[in-house]
Amino acid sequence: MSKCVGIILSTIGTLVVLGAISGFISYLVFNGRTKHVRYEVFDASFTQFELANNNITLQYNLAINASATNPNKKGAYHFEQVMTVAYFGSKNNILSASTFERFDLPHNRVAYLATSENQALRLDLTADEVSKLRSATVFDMLWVASGRSSTKLGRRHAHFNYKAICYLRVPLISDGKFSQRFNVTLCTVHKH
Ligand SMILES: *[C@@H]1O[C@H](CO)[C@@H](O)[C@H](O)[C@H]1NC(C)=O
Ligand SMILES: *[C@@H]1O[C@H](CO)[C@@H](O)[C@H](O)[C@H]1NC(C)=O
Ligand SMILES: *[C@@H]1O[C@H](CO)[C@@H](O)[C@H](O)[C@H]1NC(C)=O
Repeated sequence: MSKCVGIILSTIGTLVVLGAISGFISYLVFNGRTKHVRYEVFDASFTQFELANNNITLQYNLAINASATNPNKKGAYHFEQVMTVAYFGSKNNILSASTFERFDLPHNRVAYLATSENQALRLDLTADEVSKLRSATVFDMLWVASGRSSTKLGRRHAHFNYKAICYLRVPLISDGKFSQRFNVTLCTVHKH
């Protein structure tokens, strides 16, 4: 009888310990000990930027290269489709939109999200935005990478829907020269 109670107690004890361990692992995963991927746009440039006299057509050639870094010492991230969009103006004119198919990002590694766009865009801008654009030496735009990622620690998976948002200031050519250099820009990551 007492042997039976002993077995039950030790079984309960083992379950409590296992529960505590798995609780601790999910605490590590879900409470920020596992750092989220860091997004940085380290290169963005226009090699062509011509607003036509009609103020509606923008002929441009835009290249953006961003990095997604897994800063953790352990654990890989898995990405399902990542979408990147670059847009500007109060009416959200889209300059560039791309999708990157699923990929893995092992610990301490970097993946590149590079896009290039060469096209004539029909703009939707207010008169005020047009006049600002005409005299601009720097072009303000938003760059957003969004998607779903998951990470694994032990046998636990944590899934995130996330959005990395970057405010970019891209130098424009004036008088045949770039007035400034592009500054590497860190994005803010919103998980939900
Ligand atoms: C983006 O930058 C990385 C690192 O410098 C480089 O290896 C890669 O070729 C670049 N991608 C493009 C399309 O320029
Ligand atoms: C284009 O915009 C400029 C600056 O705002 C303005 O002076 C010009 O009249 C506009 N041209 C047309 C065709 O609307
Ligand atoms: C880059 O950063 C420097 C220093 O903060 C600033 O003076 C410059 O205007 C920035 N360049 C652009 C293109 O925003």
